[in-house]
Amino acid sequence: MRGVSISLAALVTSWPSGVWSSSLADFALEKVLDDASPIFGSYIKQTNRKTEWMKNYSDETLLVHMNIPGTHDSTTWNYTQATQDATRGLTDLNQVTVPVPETFRCQELPLIHMLNMGIRAFDLRYAFDPTNTTIIFYHSQALLSEIATLNDVLFGFYQWLDDHPSETLFLSLQYEGSTAKYASNDAALQLQLYDTLTSPVARHYFVQTKDQLGTLGQARGKLTLMRRFDLDQLPSSYTDALPGLHFSPSLWTDNSPDIVLTYNTKENLTAYIEDYYQPLTPIGSNATENIQWKYNATTENILKATNEHSDSLFWTWASSTNTDNVPPEWPRIMALGNGSLTPTGGVNDLLVSFLNQQNGKRVGIVMFDFYDQPSSLIDTFLSL
Ligand SMILES: *[C@@H]1O[C@H](CO)[C@@H](O)[C@H](O)[C@H]1NC(C)=O
Ligand SMILES: *[C@@H]1O[C@H](CO)[C@@H](O)[C@H](O)[C@H]1NC(C)=O
Ligand SMILES: *[C@@H]1O[C@H](CO)[C@@H](O)[C@H](O)[C@H]1NC(C)=O
Ligand SMILES: *[C@@H]1O[C@H](CO)[C@@H](O)[C@H](O)[C@H]1NC(C)=O
Ligand SMILES: *[C@@H]1O[C@H](CO)[C@@H](O)[C@H](O)[C@H]1NC(C)=O
Ligand SMILES: *[C@@H]1O[C@H](CO)[C@@H](O)[C@H](O)[C@H]1NC(C)=O
Ligand SMILES: *[C@@H]1O[C@H](CO)[C@@H](O)[C@H](O)[C@H]1NC(C)=O
Repeated sequence: MRGVSISLAALVTSWPSGVWSSSLADFALEKVLDDASPIFGSYIKQTNRKTEWMKNYSDETLLVHMNIPGTHDSTTWNYTQATQDATRGLTDLNQVTVPVPETFRCQELPLIHMLNMGIRAFDLRYAFDPTNTTIIFYHSQALLSEIATLNDVLFGFYQWLDDHPSETLFLSLQYEGSTAKYASNDAALQLQLYDTLTSPVARHYFVQTKDQLGTLGQARGKLTLMRRFDLDQLPSSYTDALPGLHFSPSLWTDNSPDIVLTYNTKENLTAYIEDYYQPLTPIGSNATENIQWKYNATTENILKATNEHSDSLFWTWASSTNTDNVPPEWPRIMALGNGSLTPTGGVNDLLVSFLNQQNGKRVGIVMFDFYDQPSSLIDTFLSL
């Protein structure tokens, strides 16, 4: 397991002192990025092969033809027992009991590391904080930070894109239910989300086309909104004003290995999605079997991406869990295996050799848990 504390220490010392010395605008940005850091990580500016890998692709490249590595539940990287204990007062206000942290933790490195290591698609799950005042990040009942708001974290992405204008990012935003006893995707929450996504700064950084993906050239230096929410409590003009692709929760079949979702009915633009996050294995099945079921669903969708519907979007979620099983498979066990009980490793280990066989092919967007392990996973993905 990689030591997060080592990475964080490296981050702190790598930020040159005096970099913010010049203006009030710089101080304001420093404050926002500091607030974002419990989720985004401490900002670090790096330039290398992986931070600018999209330079290798021409402006004319269609986004649906690209291979985009992503992370599932990207904001859970610091959800340890210590964080769960530290947020207990807040989850008490939400009037929820929170299962053990292993249930929720899907990553180990902050967003800034993901960006610098080549990840370009992010899965952000939001809801109101316990006072219904700000939009923060959750994974079900797990409250990930009261300080870092959605708005703060967006500024981290904006800064990173300014530093890496060759790159483009995909941001999946999903309302997370069951965060509080009385949680609701109500009009107040939807209005605040709308305001955040249509503010002048958001209009500058989000690709403004709607219901279609264009070329890399059109999207460089910008974010594409992957909208896994509806604004059903607001007049339809609000929905009309939002950019990006819409994956309505009502069309996203729960725990399905093969969702076919038409996100643009006028032009019949379709996404092929695998989101079989909880293998339907019999209770008592072992980790190896659960991993195999998930691996099968994942590779089936990726294989479809390599040889079917070449102009459609493919979005595969390699992430999974089986908390209903006894003993439970946490996301970590599914992704990385459980030591000697899983001689062939987890889904990530199995995917390395599978991906190695897909050289030169389109696999689409693939979302990983614990994306940094084994380290050959992202290297393999980026060299496809
Ligand atoms: C980009 O292309 C160059 C030259 O072909 C290659 O050396 C480099 O490894 C490529 N970068 C990535 C991230 O694949
Ligand atoms: C990670 O969580 C621990 C425990 O809650 C906390 O002390 C630490 O500051 C967090 N790290 C960041 C970068 O927020
Ligand atoms: C937050 O909103 C929910 C749903 O609208 C409501 O039931 C709850 O009482 C509110 N909580 C607070 C602290 O205002
Ligand atoms: C829409 O596209 C799908 C394949 O992507 C095809 O199966 C279907 O027949 C098309 N529907 C229409 C109305 O063209
Ligand atoms: C997974 O796929 C392999 C190869 O197609 C098959 O032999 C195996 O039975 C499948 N396993 C599960 C658990 O679905
Ligand atoms: C994982 O390994 C631990 C320690 O060997 C064991 O207690 C646990 O039951 C295992 N879980 C699964 C799902 O295999
Ligand atoms: C897991 O289950 C499979 C199929 O029943 C079996 O072949 C394998 O030996 C089991 N693994 C362990 C570690 O018990």
